[in-house]
Amino acid sequence: MDESFQAATEAEMIEAGRAFAARLKGGDVVALDGDLGAGKTHFCKGLVAGLGSDDEVTSPTFSLVQEYRAGRCPVFHFDWYRLEDATELQNIGWDDYLDEDGILVVEWSEKFPALLPRDTHVLSFRILPDGVRHVTLSRR
Ligand SMILES: Nc1ncnc2c1ncn2[C@@H]1O[C@H](COP(=O)(O)OP(=O)(O)OP(=O)(O)O)[C@@H](O)[C@H]1O
Ligand SMILES: [Mg+2]
Repeated sequence: MDESFQAATEAEMIEAGRAFAARLKGGDVVALDGDLGAGKTHFCKGLVAGLGSDDEVTSPTFSLVQEYRAGRCPVFHFDWYRLEDATELQNIGWDDYLDEDGILVVEWSEKFPALLPRDTHVLSFRILPDGVRHVTLSRR
């Protein structure tokens, strides 16, 4: 049964990410899909803080992947928005990251859904007409 939540502010989105972190363990993959500017990176900020890390989380749109290792479990934060081809992912070591016992967070995973392993947490972000963010959670 899919779950969902709404976040009316940036702070609420960060708090939702922080709470979600409690469900996660090394090896988990979290896919953040949906609208441009819907709050995926802010959710990731909360998730990383929820793991006890004070790493500064920023958008990996240009770096493609960022590593946050200050929490109870390392987080590898990807953004596939700029990727044209799945081989680019292999080039930055996607398979190696999957083998590391960290938590992988992927923004814009809808570009290469076939690369997501079974049991991936999939969060779909939508901006409602009043600007509130609606997020649906499911497992792949
Ligand atoms: N309820 C909300 N939750 C999150 N962000 C919000 C909310 N309301 C407004 N915002 C604004 O929306 C923007 C969200 O930016 P963020 O980088 O988190 O989005 P994103 O989904 O990662 O975008 P992109 O698709 O470019 O990666 C910020 O400027 C933030 O201030
Ligand atoms: Mg983002």
